Amino acid sequence: MRKILFVASEGLPYIKSGGLADVIGSLPQAINCAKYSCAVVLPLYKKIKDKYNLEKINSFNVQSGLINTVADLYYQKFNEVEYYFIANDRYFYRDGMYGYVDDGERFAFFNKAVLEMLNILPFKVDILACNDWHTGMIPILCKKEYTDEYHRNIKTTYTIHNLLFQGNFPENLLDYFNLDRKYYENGDIRFDDGISFMKAGILYADKVTTVSQSYAREILTEEYSERMDGVLRVRENDLCGIVNGIDTRMWDSKTDANLIADYSVTKLSGKKKCKKHLQEMLGLRVADDVLLVGMISRLTWQKGVSLLLEKLSAMMNQDIQLIILGTGDNYIESQFKQLEYTYPHRAVFYCGYNEALSHQVYAGIDMLLMPSLFEPCGISQLIAMRYGSLPLVREVGGLKDTVIPYNEYEHTGNGFSFRNFSGDDLLNVLKYALNVYYYRPKEWKMLMKNAMNTDVSWNCSAQQYIALFDEILG
Ligand code: ADP
Ligand code: GLC
Repeated sequence: MRKILFVASEGLPYIKSGGLADVIGSLPQAINCAKYSCAVVLPLYKKIKDKYNLEKINSFNVQSGLINTVADLYYQKFNEVEYYFIANDRYFYRDGMYGYVDDGERFAFFNKAVLEMLNILPFKVDILACNDWHTGMIPILCKKEYTDEYHRNIKTTYTIHNLLFQGNFPENLLDYFNLDRKYYENGDIRFDDGISFMKAGILYADKVTTVSQSYAREILTEEYSERMDGVLRVRENDLCGIVNGIDTRMWDSKTDANLIADYSVTKLSGKKKCKKHLQEMLGLRVADDVLLVGMISRLTWQKGVSLLLEKLSAMMNQDIQLIILGTGDNYIESQFKQLEYTYPHRAVFYCGYNEALSHQVYAGIDMLLMPSLFEPCGISQLIAMRYGSLPLVREVGGLKDTVIPYNEYEHTGNGFSFRNFSGDDLLNVLKYALNVYYYRPKEWKMLMKNAMNTDVSWNCSAQQYIALFDEILG
């Protein structure tokens, strides 16, 4: 049995800020099979340490430059997957996960600690599956800083979940690694005048993956590459896109304990009760026959919020209700805070992160809005489909790969989409969707069923990861 260790900065059920945590919380289990057994390692943040009763199983030293730091290793098994947590209170016992001035040092420590930890794990790791910039230095450190056979023989994958966040830090972070300076001088880990975790990960992993085929193509172009297209083109032959799935047991309208009523593709009546309950709970006018549109998202420009702000009043001139559940950028939050006053009982903004409410919104809405500027994959649209809520998306990245736009001639599709990043196009497709909702209810119902019947599980993609691991291990 071969062992895959997933390394990430967040993962369910322990901690989540976005879709990365969904992936880390569900993909390892989906890959587990006769050939491969997966484990996960995360930093032990305050929120995890305070909430979970984890077992401390060991301590070890992490040497960087002349400084020696102690890391504690915690462990817990969840859903047949072994979770390891690297603890160091100075770095991780803080209220948040990211956004600190010393993030470079914190994750440099995490990268080094993961590689040191390998020496004391009760199993031998064959592949380190690294995710996003927070783990980007691992492939080069494993290959170049370590001289022992075990480390040198380990294979690595590097998965890009979001190229926008690159982990670029001043050059002096180099002191933190015991890495030959030549890798900075020759440009391998250098980006502008500092070091880049993202670049290092892309160049040194055995294989580079990203979370949809479209995004894999897009990031080779200047428009979507965040200035990494040159670096990515070097690895073009080792780059592939594997679309995300979701945990279909966690997201299941038949069994979801957060819902007031259950429903399924063959018995949809419960969804109406969920809608009514959601309207009551959030102070919207209770009405079954009004299109209830929702957005559940980190509030960042990535999510196409500018289009929404541009067309908000035109959208609200239509016969719709709107729910926004999200938190993030202060300016965006401030713009949405006016919603309830401007459109009483028709629009509501819940500012914050709320897991239980997200389930209720996914189930209660008719349509999920995701007009993203770019979207590596997107998890929200997959969840929405599973709950029979039709996604309205921009045709970009993973949204393009997972949402099939309604075709009124062939009676196919599982959502609605538009191509250009344009407020007018967003508004037009919303009006089109409204028309289907109000005047062709049978078609709408067909689309709901199509959405619910779409395979959003990991089944297919887990097989693709397995094939990739087979290839890497020969
Ligand atoms: P990203 O990772 O870019 O934020 P995804 O669509 O891949 O976007 O994943 C977002 C995940 O975070 C989904 O599971 C979504 O339900 C969840 N989420 C986003 N905002 C909130 C929120 N305010 N409350 C609860 N869940 C949220
Ligand atoms: C990132 C992307 C999102 C993707 C998620 C999980 O946060 O923004 O599109 O679904 O990672 O891969």
